[in-house]
Amino acid sequence: MKDDLKEILLTEDEIQQICRQLGAEITKDYKGKDLVCIGILKGSAMFMSDLIKRIDTHLSIDFMDVSSYHGGTESTGEVKILKDLGSSIENKDVLIIEDILETGTTLKSITELLKSRRVNSLEIVTLLDKPNRRKADIEAKYVGRKIPDEFVVGYGLDYAEFYRNLPYVGTLKPEVYQNK
Ligand code: IMP
Ligand code: MG
Repeated sequence: MKDDLKEILLTEDEIQQICRQLGAEITKDYKGKDLVCIGILKGSAMFMSDLIKRIDTHLSIDFMDVSSYHGGTESTGEVKILKDLGSSIENKDVLIIEDILETGTTLKSITELLKSRRVNSLEIVTLLDKPNRRKADIEAKYVGRKIPDEFVVGYGLDYAEFYRNLPYVGTLKPEVYQNK
């Protein structure tokens, strides 16, 4: 699997450093609040598990599954709710945890839906941000790393459902796409 990679963009150490930094900021901002962290499946699972260990305040977690991708490397612009939250978020301080913010289509629909549930506050933390790809009017309050417009895999991020189990983030060799 590792032979399919062209370049490593974020090492395991860099990812842990980002989690410590963001965790400290979030701890400071949410002291004494009723924090609910919502992971967007499946990509954010690894980031979420590392990040919340660095947040030193009472919090609960929940998950949502949406689909905007259909196996390829380009967003289709469509968002479908596959799994909704398990409990009410009314009056809660909600923090959405995402793996990557690209066009923003996914997070725009999710934030609009969650805001309509009368939350107290709603913010986004994303490990990666591709600002050059943005189409929707949306930004994350907490960003781990801004990256150029390149398709990345690993640490939760997939290409056709594979590579999520890599412990770091990298780009794939062009022949990997060509062979599909
Ligand atoms: P957006 O709606 O275009 O912002 O896309 C967000 C979703 O697309 C992310 O949650 C990922 O699942 C997926 N995605 C966007 N860019 C990449 C990438 O470079 N590698 C893997 N998945 C990606
Ligand atoms: Mg995702």
